Amino acid sequence: MRLDKFLCKSTDLSRPEATRKILQGAVCVNGEPVTTESTQAHEDNLITLHGIVLTPRASRYVMLHKPPATICSNINEAYPSLFNYLDLDRAEDMHVVGRLDADTTGLVLITDDGRWSFDIIRPQMKCKKVYRVGLRDPIAPDAALRFEQGLQLQGEKALTRPAQLEAINEKEVLLTITEGKYHQVKRMFAAIGNRVLSLHREKIGAISLDIAKGQWRHLTPEEINSFATDKPAEATP
Ligand code: URA
Repeated sequence: MRLDKFLCKSTDLSRPEATRKILQGAVCVNGEPVTTESTQAHEDNLITLHGIVLTPRASRYVMLHKPPATICSNINEAYPSLFNYLDLDRAEDMHVVGRLDADTTGLVLITDDGRWSFDIIRPQMKCKKVYRVGLRDPIAPDAALRFEQGLQLQGEKALTRPAQLEAINEKEVLLTITEGKYHQVKRMFAAIGNRVLSLHREKIGAISLDIAKGQWRHLTPEEINSFATDKPAEATP
């Protein structure tokens, strides 16, 4: 983690205040002053501010049920930010893991643990995301096969990875994908001549949405560790 971020996670300083402290030479790593805020701070480093040893707060991991007409950015823009629903201390230090479009609803994971979120979104993880999709036209009989074989999306070099389609009724399907390209689901249905009218994320990996629209909850330790590749994470109560 960057040194300025480490300071924010272990003090009440804002990011600009943390940067100032570092530039002033008030922060030492293993006894040596470090004046570059982008320096990587490692877990086994002894980091002090004005001589006081710093210990980072535990990371937080939550799920939030995203309502429509909200955005996954930390600040309000054309639509209100999702973070308005998250009444947590220093929520501004947290970020969304895999953004949804403003009109998409459903499961959003939010954390301040960058390594955890990286493990979920990095393509090699092939993390499964399940979407409930409402369509303009009845689903074509060959759609499941075409999704399984991979589609050529405009502006992309590679085909989409194999995706699984399960019909709920003729205009509603469950789609499972393992990547997260820009507007991926909408572009996949556009590629087969259909159009997405509603989009709702139900599941990421082993984590299923189980709370009402606009609500949030902490993840359980099992949910947090369900993505673990090597080192387990700890939940805050
Ligand atoms: N695919 C989309 O097209 N939009 C989303 O919000 C998520 C996946």
